[in-house]
Amino acid sequence: MSKDNTPIHGIWTSRWVFILAAAGSAIGLGNIWKFPYMTGANGGGAFVMVYLVCIACVGMPIMIAEVMLGRRGGMSPVNSMRKLARENGVSSRWTGVGALGALSGFLLLSFYTVIGGWTLFYVWEMASGALHQASASEVQGVFDGIMANPWLVLAGHTTFMVMTMVVIGRGVVRGIEASVRILMPLLFLLLLVLFGYALTSDGFGAALRYLFAVDVSRLTGMSVLAAVGHAFFTLSIGLGAIMAYGAYMPRNTVDGKGVRKPVSIGSTVLTVGVLDTVVALMAGMVIFPVVFANGLAPSEGPGLLFVTLPLAFAEVPLGALFGSLFFILVVCAAWTSSISIAEPPVAWLVEKGFSRPQAAVLVGLLAWTLGIGSALSFNVLSDYTLFGKTFFGLVDFVTINIMLPVGGLLIAIFAGWVMKETHVRKELAMKRFGVYLVWRAVLRVVVPLALGTVFVFSLWQGLK
Ligand code: PFF
Ligand code: NA
Repeated sequence: MSKDNTPIHGIWTSRWVFILAAAGSAIGLGNIWKFPYMTGANGGGAFVMVYLVCIACVGMPIMIAEVMLGRRGGMSPVNSMRKLARENGVSSRWTGVGALGALSGFLLLSFYTVIGGWTLFYVWEMASGALHQASASEVQGVFDGIMANPWLVLAGHTTFMVMTMVVIGRGVVRGIEASVRILMPLLFLLLLVLFGYALTSDGFGAALRYLFAVDVSRLTGMSVLAAVGHAFFTLSIGLGAIMAYGAYMPRNTVDGKGVRKPVSIGSTVLTVGVLDTVVALMAGMVIFPVVFANGLAPSEGPGLLFVTLPLAFAEVPLGALFGSLFFILVVCAAWTSSISIAEPPVAWLVEKGFSRPQAAVLVGLLAWTLGIGSALSFNVLSDYTLFGKTFFGLVDFVTINIMLPVGGLLIAIFAGWVMKETHVRKELAMKRFGVYLVWRAVLRVVVPLALGTVFVFSLWQGLK
């Protein structure tokens, strides 16, 4: 913190900018790429139901806690946790929550930009009209062709990493805020247009049934674990990204009449969580009609988005235009997310004395190097597996299903059990006391029990 009590990295211009930035972080490949294919791989409605329960009962309470810790700390997650540990008279080992997050961030960033790179190619594929009137097998062939070429995948990875670092190197207000102010409204607009298109298509009813008809017999232990992990991933919680964004959240706003009012964390974060969930469900409702109308398999896997959408656009008039718009939307969504994944380590290096651009280059180079392994997992290294997973599969599994939930659990314990309650209540500025009590009880009891059960269960499944 500087003398006037504003964070050294800057502060969002308003509460709404925080919402845009946090929604920019949350809404990403998780919603548009991962959620549909995971739903397909895990059997549809039953998975969606478990996912929604995880968001409401575990994800949202932790998200509120994470933003609260960030705003109280005012710095990068590592230094915010250090400050909070001192303030609450507990071991400085709690700093490890921030460090673990920075590490998960590196791992996550390293493969996020690889997938981001695929989306860049698809803007080009659509705009060039190459896929116009293509058949399902031709579209599949284009996807397989890109995947099989290590140089293409590496070029996409590199470009996406550079895009991320250019924005983050410009700083919180001049870089991140400026970008989300343009990209997020564009994203919502494009999604609405596509949703309107999906509404009129043949497979819409089948898609709704697939997404919302619950068949409990299709649930397995692994699909529950996947739903928990995905709830963390999609809300950007458990690694400090949202904690860092919380650090830049203003404490007060001035309303229309010039009256200063405290910015309540609960309702602000709720808005972000609802936006994220709505976008995921809408993405499902845009993608599955195409799957069913063309007789494709919903369980296609990571290629789902990249095969179904080009196919949808191959049929319609102006398909090249709408198709490129759609992949521009995916690029925007992924871009604002990768920026937030990199923010905790970048902010931490800035606090260590590096300039913002230097810190961005350093973080980018490290994550890029690690990402080579993921980029090659789809071609040169695809036969090298451990526990049946490629390098990409392994990094994806360990970060999302293990590291993020562990990070989230520690955040819940710190906010629920360690931190002084007066500080918590002051920082949250919740309007209704009853809501606060429910949140606190869920954070202290429900979250640890739920996550503990899932861990024990999945360990037991894994050992069987
Ligand atoms: N929430 C992002 C998505 O759904 O794509 C991914 C993400 C961003 C995860 C930032 C974690 C994070 F810190
Ligand atoms: Na998301």
